[in-house]
Amino acid sequence: MQSNAIKQREFCFTDAHFKRVKTVLYAHAGIVLANNKQDMAYNRLVRRIRDLNLQNFDQYLEDIESDVNEFSLFINAMTTNLTAFFRESHHFDFIAKTIIPQVALSGNRRLRIWSAGCSLGEEPYSLAMALLSSGQDMRNWDVRILATDIDSDVLNKARLGVYAEERVAGLPRGYLPKFFLKGKGSSAGDVQARAELREMITFKYLNLMEQWPLKGPLDFIFCRNVMIYFDKKTQAKLLERMAALLKPDGYLFVGHSEALARHDSHFRLIGKTIYQKESRRG
Ligand SMILES: C[S@@+](CC[C@H](N)C(=O)[O-])C[C@H]1O[C@@H](n2cnc3c(N)ncnc32)[C@H](O)[C@@H]1O
Repeated sequence: MQSNAIKQREFCFTDAHFKRVKTVLYAHAGIVLANNKQDMAYNRLVRRIRDLNLQNFDQYLEDIESDVNEFSLFINAMTTNLTAFFRESHHFDFIAKTIIPQVALSGNRRLRIWSAGCSLGEEPYSLAMALLSSGQDMRNWDVRILATDIDSDVLNKARLGVYAEERVAGLPRGYLPKFFLKGKGSSAGDVQARAELREMITFKYLNLMEQWPLKGPLDFIFCRNVMIYFDKKTQAKLLERMAALLKPDGYLFVGHSEALARHDSHFRLIGKTIYQKESRRG
């Protein structure tokens, strides 16, 4: 019955509205919205129309272009924030078992790491846990993890480091009591990352399409499941900028479906979705 019914929307969302959404999103965030995402765009944006008591999408699209706060809520609504602790766990094993022992051998005790497109924080917190579980006494190291995102909403949540217990259910054995505090009373059912983890990470707003206020050189960059939303031209530009920020031999970790072009001259593949900067480029 439902499948044959003509979809009735509460508000009219024409192809022209969708095109405008796509154009604005691409111009600001570099995100390419596929043509089959019209329903998704409608569902994500219609809530604002209701909350603002607007009459239609024309009014809403005018609002986002004239009101910076509404614009940032638009960006927050249109980003996809799917993430998880120890997502692609081989990356964290590689850090704890290969990179950190190498760095330790070299005598260096300073690490600068960037989680670009960190979403709700599971990625940088996993990084911090991997470092603290690497067998080195990190209290004697100078470690800083910068975690950035374009979505101010996820950043606010990431900073608090509070997660529902289901989100941390799959953590490696022993990590939950070691790295999280159990919520009590009205916070029962939640956990919070311990101060030791939170203090290793700085969360900041950063739009990858704009200037990056990062000094570098960085030891490694995590930019996973982010470039997947960008076109080839944008990806190539970002890879060039990331290569320039990394140390010679620095590492870049990308998402499972984001293989770099074979002919990319900045990086060479050294493991599953793990790249190392070509050091001859300095
Ligand atoms: C699918 S999540 C990936 C999270 C995490 N890196 C992971 O792999 O689990 C993609 C994140 O990229 C962010 N993002 C999208 N476009 C961005 C841009 N132009 N600048 C910065 N972050 C962006 C989104 O807000 C979202 O939180």
